[in-house]
Amino acid sequence: TAQRIDELERRNEELLSPSSTEAVDRQHAKGKMTARERVTALMDPGTFVELDALVRHRCHDFGMEERRPPGDGVVTGYGMVDGRQVFVFAQDFTVFGGSLGEMYGHKVVKVMDLALRTGCPVIGINDSGGARIQEGVASLAMYAEMVKRHVEASGVIPQISLMMGPCAGGAVYAPAITEFVVMVNGMSHMFVTGPDVLRTITGQTVDREELGGASGHNTVSGGAHYMAQDEKEAFEYTRALLGHLPSNNMEDPPSYAPTRGRGTDEADLALDSLVPDDPGTPYDMRHAVCGVLDGGELVEVQPLFARNIICGFGRVEGESVGVVANQPMCAAGALDIDASEKAARFIRTCDAFHIPVLTFVDVPGFLPGIDQERAGIIRRGAKLIYAYAEATVPMVTVVTRKAYGGGYGVMGSKHLGTDINLAWPTAEIAVMGGESAVSVLHRGTLRRSADPEAERERLREAYECALCNPYVAAEHGYIDAVIMPRETRFQVASALRMLRTKRVTRLPRKHGNIPL
Ligand code: COA
Repeated sequence: TAQRIDELERRNEELLSPSSTEAVDRQHAKGKMTARERVTALMDPGTFVELDALVRHRCHDFGMEERRPPGDGVVTGYGMVDGRQVFVFAQDFTVFGGSLGEMYGHKVVKVMDLALRTGCPVIGINDSGGARIQEGVASLAMYAEMVKRHVEASGVIPQISLMMGPCAGGAVYAPAITEFVVMVNGMSHMFVTGPDVLRTITGQTVDREELGGASGHNTVSGGAHYMAQDEKEAFEYTRALLGHLPSNNMEDPPSYAPTRGRGTDEADLALDSLVPDDPGTPYDMRHAVCGVLDGGELVEVQPLFARNIICGFGRVEGESVGVVANQPMCAAGALDIDASEKAARFIRTCDAFHIPVLTFVDVPGFLPGIDQERAGIIRRGAKLIYAYAEATVPMVTVVTRKAYGGGYGVMGSKHLGTDINLAWPTAEIAVMGGESAVSVLHRGTLRRSADPEAERERLREAYECALCNPYVAAEHGYIDAVIMPRETRFQVASALRMLRTKRVTRLPRKHGNIPL
């Protein structure tokens, strides 16, 4: 027996000692943690339980039979994050460049299956040279097996991908399917075709950072949801996200003690003067959003992408909410393709995980232009309408200023299924603004007028007085109440509390067919 125990001890020591100290040094020199260090940094201290540490590859070609490190380049297991169970796989760049082979793939698939079976989030830490070249198709097959599980888990358990190194080729589609992709500035790269191959095929010269760095994916492609400045910040963001999400779609998100009382305080009063007198002057919608959230805290999702719309998680009376808000500071808050897709995806994430959607509206409409039309604003803008209309979670909308034209209907209007619609007295709910309406309606009158400018002004005032307000919509019952801005937190909290038991039943179908 003693011999057997000694053997296990020897094997355990082998597991924990790196297969190549040089590779570890290289990893550290790049400012990167090793896979085990990352898992330790993510999990609550002492809670990580490793699985399959003894797994080795079974490739016998290209001298691989001489190098069979235990664990095979990926650390997998389970543990706690803020006291809640999660599963993790962390690709280990110090072993064969983190490349994914057959047995490595089986390890990942095993934790994903366990996560699905037990209803717990799965966090993938990506740092890999891609498919392990020596293992050929067996490696490619495992990518497909992983992707299939990511799809099965989609909307059932939260899946978060932390990109902490390269992720290239077909490998990118595994994280791309997960709910959230977090990249680290200067450290992560994601591309379908790397710079070397690109140069060979197209002659284009572009470096890794420009092609697939964190900045490009966070600001332009929309492929990432957050850009952390270092690994530590990426873990903090992950913990913040998990704090707003349930462990699976059969549970509610965790509740916290509310951090603010019921009374009116300065933050509430400040909302009364948020909207500027001049309808063309922008203001920061974050003030309205944070004015109603517990502690004024918003965990933004894709904060650098499509900045004309804000998406993020917060809490009202200690319960999670997903906020969608037009941002007048950027493109006057107009909806474009990126904003539509950003918000649509976010709303569907909220809906899948029982997180109520709170919408703030100040939208002049869809962004006009041939670029948008050609790039598919019809097909791609439709996703946002679809996402609101199919959502069954509690939904509350607050119109702060403009709700014009198509933007009115799309942005969480009553007609799409929103439960409570509120408007500030500054709301202008109409087909279009006064200036444009007068140009369309009174072209002839203006042409015939002796003083067209004075006439235009008179007609604009008459139009705005009659139609650019919240009261016409309220008369129709499309707005449930016109409220003082300072009452917003109280009204939103009351509505969300009232809606906690909301249930909606839909006709059975295999699945809807959202325009893609
Ligand atoms: N399969 C097998 N081994 C791989 C690998 C792969 N896909 N990618 C990297 N490695 C190995 C390297 O051979 C090297 O091994 P060594 O330490 O025994 O020499 C080790 O991982 C580290 O790679 P290295 O190239 O030195 O690291 P780097 O930081 O300079 O470059 C990459 C990282 C990912 C850019 C580079 O390794 C690369 O281009 N890999 C191939 C990517 C690819 O085309 N994958 C298939 C697409 S699915």
